Amino acid sequence: MNIRAITLSLAAAALTFCGLHAERVKIDTKNTSLVLQADKGKKLKHLYYGGSISDTDASALKQAGAANVNAYPDYGVDPSNEPAIAVVHADGNMTLDLVVDNVSNRTENGAEITTIHLRDAYYPFTVDVNYRTYPDLEIIETWTDISHSEKKPVTLNAFASGYLPVRYGDVWLSNLYGSWGNEARLDCQPLTHGMKVIKNRDGVRNSATAHSEVMLSLDGKPRENEGRVIGAALCYGGNYRIAIDTDASNYHRLIAGIDPTQSAYKLKAKETFTTPVLALSYSNEGLSGVSRNFHHWGREKRMAHGDKLNDVLLNSWEGVYFDIKEPEMEQMMADIASMGGELFVMDDGWFGVKYPRDHDRQGLGDWTVDTRKLPGGIQGLIDAAKRHGVKFGIWIEPEMVNTTSELFEKHPEYVIRAEHRDPTYGRGKTQMVLDMANPKVQDIVFTIVDTLLTKYPEIAYIKWDANMPVRNHGSQYLSADNQSHLFIDYHRGLTSTLDRIRAKYPDVVIQACASGGGRANYGILPWFDEFWTSDNTDALQRVYIQWGTSYFYPAMAMASHISAAPNHQTSRTMNLKYRTDVAMSGRLGMEIQPQNMTEQEREQCHKAIEEYKAEIRPVVQTGDIYRLLSPYDGLGAASLLYATPEKDRAVFFWWKTEPFRNKQYPRVKMAGLDPARNYTVKEMNRVEKTPLKFEGKTFSGRYLMENGLEMPVNLNVDNADEWASRVLLLTAQ
Ligand code: GLA
Repeated sequence: MNIRAITLSLAAAALTFCGLHAERVKIDTKNTSLVLQADKGKKLKHLYYGGSISDTDASALKQAGAANVNAYPDYGVDPSNEPAIAVVHADGNMTLDLVVDNVSNRTENGAEITTIHLRDAYYPFTVDVNYRTYPDLEIIETWTDISHSEKKPVTLNAFASGYLPVRYGDVWLSNLYGSWGNEARLDCQPLTHGMKVIKNRDGVRNSATAHSEVMLSLDGKPRENEGRVIGAALCYGGNYRIAIDTDASNYHRLIAGIDPTQSAYKLKAKETFTTPVLALSYSNEGLSGVSRNFHHWGREKRMAHGDKLNDVLLNSWEGVYFDIKEPEMEQMMADIASMGGELFVMDDGWFGVKYPRDHDRQGLGDWTVDTRKLPGGIQGLIDAAKRHGVKFGIWIEPEMVNTTSELFEKHPEYVIRAEHRDPTYGRGKTQMVLDMANPKVQDIVFTIVDTLLTKYPEIAYIKWDANMPVRNHGSQYLSADNQSHLFIDYHRGLTSTLDRIRAKYPDVVIQACASGGGRANYGILPWFDEFWTSDNTDALQRVYIQWGTSYFYPAMAMASHISAAPNHQTSRTMNLKYRTDVAMSGRLGMEIQPQNMTEQEREQCHKAIEEYKAEIRPVVQTGDIYRLLSPYDGLGAASLLYATPEKDRAVFFWWKTEPFRNKQYPRVKMAGLDPARNYTVKEMNRVEKTPLKFEGKTFSGRYLMENGLEMPVNLNVDNADEWASRVLLLTAQ
């Protein structure tokens, strides 16, 4: 990978005549190029983004008719355009005229950063447009630094992270929408004229509804393993807006950044407003190709401990809910240990003295152990976990408070609420959001974690929950002038607190949970190891949720738990093999009371967990995804495969999604294998006495990718229900 600013001798000569300097900036990853025209004193122009191009091609791009569109359009001179940045200057002037000042390159922690410094033609107002690349990663990160030295604050009304023109054509948008229990639903449609806006204004849980990531397929209807695709992920945990404007010009214009709605930012002189990273990726290997690029980058650069495999755990929530008791906790530890698990996580319900957390109406904020339920305290649980040979983890929801809590009684000024308005409550009709813009609240949140981890350094895992949106826009901390900073300052407060936590506790594993999948976002993951993908643990619905989530997030980040039948969210009854086969395609765990399982079920789980740890986990958690058959295509089944980068092992998943009698199911062609190598098939989590016909047989990668194997669509077991699924390990000879 290299980043170069090619000075075009001809253009430079011509412009030198006028005392100016012309530069073409080419930002390369191994397989992609982004080219800009940065002529001093002129607008920064975007020329090209796509597969790698040579310097020769780059130098003649304009003549080829490539885009010559402003790369970071400002508001004012041409008010008809959708701007990336819009401001009101200290003197009331509403226009910007940003021109190139100079271009600089630097290397930082192995990454190369190119910065195009823009300055206003009149005002002392500057914007640095940054691009960062890493060796061996197919991602270009872009963001801006906005600053000025005007006499009074400048109001920022729009402050996008990045802007990307995409040539008009048969371009299709794939994006994720959803709601509680139904996160990351895939939507897919051609881009038509007008503006498509994807946004979230929850304030706290920004992936609970639409995700801040999109893919654009440039060659018509999206295909998983073919075609040119651009992926864009806004790495921000707060309110965001991604707009794609298709006007009568030759370009679809993608603008992504913090949602500026009710968030006008008053920027003081010399203060720098840094926008969140917009990560871009391009692949000519279809949607899955872009996913693989994001997964590599996510694991290496954008999540905590992306180089370590995540443990198999049992979480207590669906097993006992709030009914935490020491003997049950210990029994659960013994059970998960006996099934081969590595970690036990005690969920909600363990705290509160004056207001014990027996239900969701009280206790949040008072993180003191309830010794009625846990006489031996947390140390007692840690000791028990040690005895059983598993690690111990604990649930907290530090950004929240119940009004029925000692914290709220002492500090009602710490919650978010607007003056002169009745407070709005969340869960339990008493929950409120603490004002993370307030440094005192930041200290409280830091101290919650610090106290737990100082007193109990053996806590190996924290489930960090956040179950309420910002309601009643109002900060009791921010000045009247700065109320519009609330959403932005909340996330600054949160991330700086997480920085403090990670500086002191770099090793603890932390899960981001936000009413389920509300924090599946690269703006949050740098401090977190994984997220709770959804509160919905129904295996069938999880096939859809995890499919969508995998567009940008690697399997190791997706907590996926085997839960009870009938399922607690959907009441659907599915066999244990199917439930396990779905959970094994992510970070496997359990969310069940093992005492309610039969001996045979526990044995089945034990075998599956051992196989997962030995054979599946390394491939799924760190391998390359190839999605094969989409559940959203309605063909009755879904299938995907993870392969090692060396293509010496792969795990193939197949799940029936419409269990209709005598329905014809398509045969699934595999992908991502080496056509020249032979692979031996071994069924994982096998429950049938008779092996599958192809068990132990060897097939070439070419055959598997051109034809595939015929999946038996029913399970050959007594009392089989209609939900069949298969997991196959393919090992190269
Ligand atoms: C949220 C989470 C659940 C569980 C409960 C506990 O709903 O998403 O997984 O932790 O809170 O109250």
